[in-house]
Amino acid sequence: MPDPIPALPAADALLAWYDRHRRTLPWRGEGDPYRIWLSEVMLQQTTVAAVGPRYARFLARFPTVDALAAAPWEDVAAEWAGLGYYARARNLHAAAKAVAARGGFPNTEDGLRALPGIGAYTAAAVAAIAFGRPTVPVDGNVERVVSRILAIRDPLPGARKIIGPAAARFMDQPAARDRPGDFVQALFDLGATICTPRRPACAICPWRGACAAQRLGIQDGLPVKAPKAARGHRHGLHFLARDPAGRMLLRQRPPEGLLGGMLEIPGAPWRETPWTLEEALPHAPLPGLDWVLRPGIAHHGFTHMDLDMLLATADAPDAPAPEGCTWMAPDAARAALPTAIRSLLALLEEPAETATKAKSRAPRGRAATLRS
Ligand code: ADE
Repeated sequence: MPDPIPALPAADALLAWYDRHRRTLPWRGEGDPYRIWLSEVMLQQTTVAAVGPRYARFLARFPTVDALAAAPWEDVAAEWAGLGYYARARNLHAAAKAVAARGGFPNTEDGLRALPGIGAYTAAAVAAIAFGRPTVPVDGNVERVVSRILAIRDPLPGARKIIGPAAARFMDQPAARDRPGDFVQALFDLGATICTPRRPACAICPWRGACAAQRLGIQDGLPVKAPKAARGHRHGLHFLARDPAGRMLLRQRPPEGLLGGMLEIPGAPWRETPWTLEEALPHAPLPGLDWVLRPGIAHHGFTHMDLDMLLATADAPDAPAPEGCTWMAPDAARAALPTAIRSLLALLEEPAETATKAKSRAPRGRAATLRS
């Protein structure tokens, strides 16, 4: 039977290029699987430039997998604030506990895959880079490089079933098998610096001449992507209570779902239609307060939906925090809140007069003050 996958370009040409042109990155040359795993998790959601300082800061706070496992979730969540995709931080913490409990990282792709929240990509990346296993993790860079060298015109995500097995075939070459960690990072660097999404620098590519897309002149159009589903749009209304010391009442979100386990300003559930203050009032965290709707709308774009949030504020008496909530000083709250929720705090900077004026217009618009 003919081989369904055409010949791949030479791994040693790419490795020779990598030896001269590799990027200097904070996790390059690391042997510690913890540090490699952390870099891979951070890089899944954030650019290389943004990860650098946060990676160093995270490691200064949690220098080993045991230190991360022993840390309270609140500390991990606070250190992750601003990096987005909080489910990843929760999984990171859960996996650290599993690794600490078993006395170290598993050193195979299957063993890594069995840890909480470690998917196919991360397991393959850590197996190759930390343990020299001959496997090829497929991220967006690798998808682009492989779809171009083989001129794969099927649209993503369906094309992944061709791209994955094709990428794995690189490890049939002794040069790649000898240096799996370097080879996969060479693929990442090639995708990030030469085989870029727009206007790839084919003239200086170590694989020019071996790239089917370049021969056909179709590299700019690959990989083909299936049209995206329309983004959702949701609305929220959040209640910020402040006690006489100025502390803010925050609540922990449920462990599952968007921003799972992170702190938030308590509020009404996000839904498809905007809330009025009156409607949302049953979701206020403390009874009997005078809530004032602040002017303005805070906006946050998640990957799959846009969120518009209103903010109501009230002065609260000195009282214990209700179940699942905690009083927190403003600086600590600002640092611990995920970016989406922190954006609400900008509404506090609107001049107080506008908020007061809103009260007098209450009957006509959504601006209102109401007692819960
Ligand atoms: N993107 C994902 N993992 C990476 C790594 N190890 N080096 C550079 N870019 C990456």
